[in-house]
Order: sequence, then C-alpha cells, then structure tokens
Amino acid sequence: MRAFEEFLNLESESQFENNSQNNSQDTLVKMMNSEASIHDLIYHHVSDTKMTYGQGIYLYDEEGNRYIDCAAATFNLSLGYGHPEVLQAVKEQADQLVHVTSSFQTNPINTVVRKLVELSPENLTRVHPKVSSGSVANEGAIKIAQHYTGKRDVISFFRSHLGQTMMMTSMSGNAFRKEPFPNLFPGSIQVPDPYCHRCFYKQKPKTCDFLCVERIHDFIEYGSSGSVACMIVEPISGNGGNIVPPPGYFQALKKLCDEKGIILIFDEIQTGIGRTGKMFAAEYFGVQPNIITAAKGLGGTGFQFAAILTEERLGGLDGHHHSFTYGSNVLAAAAAAKTLDIVSQPEFLKNVEIVGDYIMDRLRKMQERYTFISDVRGVGLMIGVEISDDEGNPDTDLTNYIAKIAMKHGLIIRTSRYGYGNVFKIRPPLTITLEESEQLCDQLEKVLTEVQ
Ligand SMILES: Cc1ncc(COP(=O)(O)O)c(C=O)c1O
Repeated sequence: MRAFEEFLNLESESQFENNSQNNSQDTLVKMMNSEASIHDLIYHHVSDTKMTYGQGIYLYDEEGNRYIDCAAATFNLSLGYGHPEVLQAVKEQADQLVHVTSSFQTNPINTVVRKLVELSPENLTRVHPKVSSGSVANEGAIKIAQHYTGKRDVISFFRSHLGQTMMMTSMSGNAFRKEPFPNLFPGSIQVPDPYCHRCFYKQKPKTCDFLCVERIHDFIEYGSSGSVACMIVEPISGNGGNIVPPPGYFQALKKLCDEKGIILIFDEIQTGIGRTGKMFAAEYFGVQPNIITAAKGLGGTGFQFAAILTEERLGGLDGHHHSFTYGSNVLAAAAAAKTLDIVSQPEFLKNVEIVGDYIMDRLRKMQERYTFISDVRGVGLMIGVEISDDEGNPDTDLTNYIAKIAMKHGLIIRTSRYGYGNVFKIRPPLTITLEESEQLCDQLEKVLTEVQ
C-alpha cells in the first residue's frame, strides 16, 4: 500500500503534469499490482500448480505431489529432469566459459558440430549452430533454401506446427493461430498432410497410390507463385496429432521435390535426437531430406540448443543473414554434446524402441476396451492417442477432460489445439524404463476407467 500512497503523492507534483492520462493509469495499475496475484501479472494464463522439483520422468509440485511427465516438459527433455551426466558437463563448462561470441571456435560447439555430422544422414555435411530455438532453426533452413534456389514460396502441411515467429506462424497450424496478425509471411502454401485416419481425399492407404503427393503438383501449378523454394515438414507431426505417414510416403514426396527442384526440409525438432528409436526420423523412414532442423531434445535436460543440418551444396548463406546472440551458447553446447553421446549409444536407442513398443501394445489393448479411443499411432516414444465420439467424430472436449483427470492420477498429459485437438500425446523422456512405463500405463488405465 505504501507504494500506492507514494504514487498518489508524486502524482500531485508538477513532474507528472505532462504525463498523458493513459500513462498515469498504467502507473496506477502497476502500483496496485505490486501485491496482486501472479495470475494478474503474467501475461498468459498459467496453471495454479507450482512445480518445484524434477528427477528423471517425475515432476513434483510444492505440495509434494508426484507426476509422471508424459510430455517430457514441452517434448524437449529427452533425458528427463536433472540428468546427472548432463548437469556435470554443464557445471564443468561453467567453470571454464559460459558464453562467447559465435564467431570464435569453442570445444563444446566443435564437438556438437562433429557429432551432428556423424550421426545424421550421410548427405548432411554442414551444421549451422547459430540458432537457439526450433522456430529460428526452421526460419534459417528456409532462408538457406531460398538463398540456394533463388526461389520464394514455402510449402508446409495442414496441421503443421513449425514454431511461432511470424514466419513460422504463417506456415503453421489452424487459422485461429494466425487470425490476429495482419502481415503474415507471403508465399506460404499449406497442403493436405498424410493423415490416413481421416484422409482429406477420402482414400485408403492400401489403394491411394499417394494421391496426396500427386495433388501437390496442382498446388504448385494453381496455388503458388511458380517460384517454390522448399517444402518443410515434420516427419511425424508433433502438435498436429502425431500423424505417422505410411511406408513409401516420403519416398514419393522426395521424388516430387527432386523433380521440381524443391528443397525438402525435415523439421525434426520433436522427432529428432532419438525420439523414434533412431537418431533422426529420416533414418526410420529411409529418406534423405536436403536439410534437417533440430532443437528441443538436443538440450537433453532442458538446455537451449538448436541446429540446422544441410547438404554441402546448400552452404553459402552468410553468418550475418541468420545469426543470434544465444545461438552457439557454450553452456548449452556442453549439454548438447553430452546428450548426443548418451542418446547415440545403441542400447539407449534400443530402449526407446522396446519401451515404445510396450506402451503401444498396452494402448492398443486399451483401445479394445475404451470405445472413445479411435486410433493409436506412433513410432518409438512419439505416440498419440486419438479420441472420438460414438459417431467417430473428433471429441476435443473428452480429450481435454482426459488430460484434466490425468493430473489427478499423477500423469501430465498434453493435448493440442492443432488439428481437431483430439489427440493426446505420450512422449515421456527417452530415459523411461520398462518398469516406469508399466506404471505410466497402469495410471493411464485408471484415468480412462474414471472417464469411461
Ligand atoms: C515440430 C516443431 N517445430 C518447431 C517448433 C518450435 O520450436 P521453438 O518453440 O523452440 O521455437 C516446435 C515447438 O513446439 C515443434 O514442435
């Protein structure tokens, strides 16, 4: 209250006379807010639950409740909360050097760059590490494609989530995400995604002959400027509904891109760094995109590191065209180097496959018992569960209700408003053990029984 009184006293002084009425009102609100609820101060809505501690797959709130985080935070904690080896690497690096301009070399950056070249598909030989988020890595990949081809337009999928900078907003998701913004990036074309469960062209995967790829010719001919630089796709859509393309789809897509001179970019910000049981989903699908972007899981236990991996011929974009202060941060690079060491171990990736198969198997059994589960799809630990009503239509309310009840049973489950918003995701840290995944499935069964 003292601050408020001080404000009133000051306001009577002449120094405030020139302030506009709006400014005074803003200041008044500021003073009154000094004791306000945090909900009135944080711009966005936040949950009432306050988290205080995390270890492995578990997160604890201030009341000591324990949750299994089925979303690995924002699908980024590939090694879970507080991974000791990553923390140790970061602590050791912090004693040496926390940050330096990315114009200089450092050991952690050099190590990450070498490892990324070694672990990615053979055709990718260059790494651009001067980025620190997924959105900015994707923008950089598009700039590289535009710079190389001299062309402009960008094709992405319906239901994509490629990030939330203005350029990536323009190419992502549903209309409601773009609606408030008047100046979206031009030359952005969205085409139907390989969502076989609800095929846009009403086809069946066995007989469709990839009609959705064939139709992209029409989008290029009738929907583009004729100057298409690249196509940017998530190999398995993250927020859009965990859509897993059928075998052969990416081979058909790559053929089309090659024929048209279109650079194919894989956004592996969710699927990369071991999530599918392979280092990159490109390997799982047996295709070599021209560029891969990586972020999220690269930071292992929550450090912010991102990178763009390209073919040799795509080099040439100058540093000053895409370079950010916290790109190539040395501490984050130390975390990323250690993360790549751990994830690239064959037994680590094998565990992702084994545990992923176990969870998928349990979910499919649940599908037989809970009629509202209309599809279970996934690869490795990138799993989605689609919820529908009795008529088979997307049931968004029920999906959100499941996520709400899950919290009560100690499970953090994320949904998304992308697509129909009727898919909840099971994407825990990749370190999850078979025992822990059994526990996760048992708790999920309790949730579904209550919902039923
Ligand atoms: C597939 C995908 N691409 C890009 C992004 C954007 O990453 P960031 O939030 O780090 O900008 C996200 C984030 O959710 C994502 O899931």
